[in-house]
Amino acid sequence: MTIPLPTRRDAWLALALLPLSASVARAQTAGPAVSCAPPARATRAQTEGPYFKRNAPSRANLAADDPRGERLRFQGLVLGRDCAPVAGAVVDLWQTDSAGAYDNAGFRLRGNQITAANGGFAFDTVVPGLYPGRTRHLHVKIAAPGRPVLTTQLYFPGEAGNANDRIFDPMLVMTVTRAQGATVGTFTFVLA
Ligand SMILES: [Fe+2]
Repeated sequence: MTIPLPTRRDAWLALALLPLSASVARAQTAGPAVSCAPPARATRAQTEGPYFKRNAPSRANLAADDPRGERLRFQGLVLGRDCAPVAGAVVDLWQTDSAGAYDNAGFRLRGNQITAANGGFAFDTVVPGLYPGRTRHLHVKIAAPGRPVLTTQLYFPGEAGNANDRIFDPMLVMTVTRAQGATVGTFTFVLA
């Protein structure tokens, strides 16, 4: 996913994010263009960790679970290695709250969304706090019909803890921008 030359497909992918919302469109315009050149490399898997829970609610707004947290819009695309959008994929997100704690009793800061026809998804959540021993991260699991499930983690650029986290992978760093006073984290997943 490092293609400097704009192509017709790049333009299509950039447009694909526009319907999510006006703020997303502005963030996309301000940030680097989403690009993909087939055959794209599948997004690297990472450990699930101990805190995944099945049957999280389907919902886009997790931010209400942590009103004091810094708002994070987490958005992206799910593509195949041919760079075509994967619609109908279930994107599960789980993370710590702004204090660095997971909710293992309930479903705070846990939820899933289903990708749209353009492969797009978005959550309104909060910037996760620091869990002891780890750098700042999100957990994601993506399940699409006929494909292996992708379980991975995403990271934030410029985090001091990235250099000291043994699981951290620079290929899994989101593009982070600011839009309308909120932090926007964008990532393009490629499923095998
Ligand atoms: Fe974690």
